[in-house]
Amino acid sequence: MTVKTIAVLGSGTMGHGIAQAAVAAGFDAVLYDIQEDFVAKGAARIRKSLARRVEKGKLEQDQMDAILGRLRTSTNLAEAVKDADFVIEAVPENLELKKKIFAELDRVCKPEAILATNTSVLSVTAMAGATERKDQVIGTHFFNPAAVMKLVEVICPVGVGEKTVEIALETMKRMGKVPIRVKDTPGFIVNRLLGPLYMTAAQMVLEGTASAEEIDTAMKLGAGHPMGPCELADFGGFDVIQMAQDSVFEYTHSESDKLNILYRKMIEAGRLGFKNGKGFYDYLPDGTKKPFKVF
Ligand SMILES: NC(=O)c1ccc[n+]([C@@H]2O[C@H](COP(=O)([O-])OP(=O)(O)OC[C@H]3O[C@@H](n4cnc5c(N)ncnc54)[C@H](O)[C@@H]3O)[C@@H](O)[C@H]2O)c1
Repeated sequence: MTVKTIAVLGSGTMGHGIAQAAVAAGFDAVLYDIQEDFVAKGAARIRKSLARRVEKGKLEQDQMDAILGRLRTSTNLAEAVKDADFVIEAVPENLELKKKIFAELDRVCKPEAILATNTSVLSVTAMAGATERKDQVIGTHFFNPAAVMKLVEVICPVGVGEKTVEIALETMKRMGKVPIRVKDTPGFIVNRLLGPLYMTAAQMVLEGTASAEEIDTAMKLGAGHPMGPCELADFGGFDVIQMAQDSVFEYTHSESDKLNILYRKMIEAGRLGFKNGKGFYDYLPDGTKKPFKVF
């Protein structure tokens, strides 16, 4: 099967970016959400992002029009996915919700359609288990911002069909991404490796070894990281990191994967990271940031 039409479920941070990557690469895409104003907002974010590329001279106006011509929005699930060869679910990170959606997709999608999830930490195998097409379910873990970031972790659940994996890898390449195949294990590759880095950085802040800003500068200049671990943790979001670490720790039982108490305290203090402007840094309205004194 050659994928022509991709349906993306959820038009939030990730969904709109995934749909943008799909239409920019020449696929027809349908962006679905539960409310008209949500899909409208997702489509507007895509338009704004493309318009910026036109302003910068990176895209012609007629190319932008052609890209947008391949995008459709919908608030009716059965209608949204009826022509889809490949469905990518990007709804909130809640296993019960995702399982319910996969069971529904199984009923309404074409028999040959492949069902993918963008989950960061949940079990893709559990989602496959909610369907009768267990060999046609896979994970496609995009990174934020999805229209720009090249990596997609292609997560293989227990029982996945080799054909499904091949089609997923090929579709991601056609979307301009670099897919990496990985087994369905908590944290996959990137978050599994980032966890101990985030935990150690937080422990060093707690101990007063150095400030978050000094740790970030050290890792940027000494290890060639484009962002320091505290900045990156802010960008990931502490609530998301908590969920990821809890699931990785449950799997590895390794002390280095255990959620550092500082993240729990930051969450209790209402500091979630960049998304609410409060993390290891305070993000100011003028676009600058200043270090936050933890204690
Ligand atoms: N934000 C990130 O950096 C990031 C990175 C990688 C993966 N992810 C994963 O991607 C998924 C989506 O995350 P996000 O950050 O885009 O969330 P988000 O909250 O920005 O967007 C979720 C969207 O799903 C919609 N939605 C809620 N219930 C729905 C339903 N029943 N059917 C269809 N749409 C529904 C919401 O209205 C919202 O527009 C999650 O599984 C998350 O773990 C997020």
